Amino acid sequence: MVSRVIPVDPFDLIIFGATGDLARRKILPGLFRRFCAGQIPPESQIIGAARSDHDAQEFRVVVAEAIREFGGGKACEDGTLDEFLQRIDYVTVDARGDTGWRELAGKVRKKLINAFYFSVGPGLFGDLAERLQRFDMADDDSRIVVEKPFGRDLATAKALNASLAKHFDETQIYRIDHYLGKETVQNLMAVRFGNMLFEPLWNSQYIDHIQISVAETVGVGGRGGYYDKSGAMRDMVQNHLMQLLCLIAMEPPAKFDPDAVRDEKLKVIRALDPVEPHHMVRGQYGPSEGDDDFRTHVGDPASKTESFVAMKLAISNWRWAGTPFYLRTGKRLKARTSEITVVFKDAPHSIFGAEAGRHNNELRIRLQPNEGMTLDVTIKEPGQGGMRLVDVPLDMSFAEALGPDVAEVPDAYERLIMDVIRGNQTLFMRGDEVEAAWAWTDPIIEGWQARGEVPKTYDSGSDGPTDAMAMIARDGRIWREIKL
Ligand code: BG6
Repeated sequence: MVSRVIPVDPFDLIIFGATGDLARRKILPGLFRRFCAGQIPPESQIIGAARSDHDAQEFRVVVAEAIREFGGGKACEDGTLDEFLQRIDYVTVDARGDTGWRELAGKVRKKLINAFYFSVGPGLFGDLAERLQRFDMADDDSRIVVEKPFGRDLATAKALNASLAKHFDETQIYRIDHYLGKETVQNLMAVRFGNMLFEPLWNSQYIDHIQISVAETVGVGGRGGYYDKSGAMRDMVQNHLMQLLCLIAMEPPAKFDPDAVRDEKLKVIRALDPVEPHHMVRGQYGPSEGDDDFRTHVGDPASKTESFVAMKLAISNWRWAGTPFYLRTGKRLKARTSEITVVFKDAPHSIFGAEAGRHNNELRIRLQPNEGMTLDVTIKEPGQGGMRLVDVPLDMSFAEALGPDVAEVPDAYERLIMDVIRGNQTLFMRGDEVEAAWAWTDPIIEGWQARGEVPKTYDSGSDGPTDAMAMIARDGRIWREIKL
């Protein structure tokens, strides 16, 4: 069962930084897949813009190679690539100078939807925004798309917001957090607000605690320089895990519309308590067979940056007071898996006596891979010999339940770019939301720096530092094992 593809209106999409890594890995192959699916009308145009000196034909070769390397998808037939490449153009542009801008302005068709994707470092956002206005390329309906990292603290995020706000209205700015484009992340809202079953129990009266784990097996790869200045807190927690937390914890919005949803998410971030030092554990991965450790990867033998972080959070509002949220993310862990576990409280009284043991329900939402949900339910162990209780999983994999075609659902970037063209901001972060997330993050990072904290080393391929186990064990709880 695959959802209907509704074509978007014809558009001109201008990608700044079009020869960069993100464009080659995600944006261009993603656009191609949408083209194959029939979602992009043939009159649309994709214009690459970057500093490298290419003509359109040379850039088409770059695009074709990127698509071959990073995937066309099942629906793409021979011949479609040539059709797609005809939609591609290129202009050499200097983001900080005047080169190329007039030529680019001559190519953008104002009567269509115009979207400008800033697939460049944040240092260039203001320059690009200013030139789009100066060369008269943008109007009230134009959209700009910006990527993370959106600042490295509250002050830089505010400065970025201000530099964009000088030239564009908030309703025109699409800040990407690619986690929001993941199908199963959107499913969190469907599960919570589309079912009667969960919402009445979704509070501290019934939920003991919630765990959010995003584990990766990869190390920092070729991004050591960036990562050493960022760390897991800025790279993953401030954005991706924060978004997951918001979707799990927010109040039901009145409508599935951009401001209704983002207002509710913002309230969650603002209700987060500061985090106590003993409620956080940071780690750095050690070497593994045939590969180096974190410090070697980032090129600093004394690096104090974390590749793992685990923390216990409290949300101070009526719904969640008393229910802790445990978050954890790290690189070079045992398995690549993202999972949210909602652990319900024990039944208040067991009519079956102490020997039947204590049993509680647990809802696990697997975000990736093998997307699905499992609900542990307590039943009677079959057979003679009295009432013995046992927990069994009601296990549902979305692929099994909905058919193998779900594997072909658009990836996060495809979905998000089409939302930009449709003009739907629901799955994008609003400026105040990003600032609130930094306002909560800053004192945590400042505290680490002030205390000179050095992350604990953990074994590559493990569950992370043992201190993370100890942190949750002090509360009489355990992490879900990281496994596929
Ligand atoms: C990116 C981070 O935003 O998300 C990376 O910068 C991380 O460090 C990646 O690996 C994880 O994304 P995904 O989609 O693979 O879970």
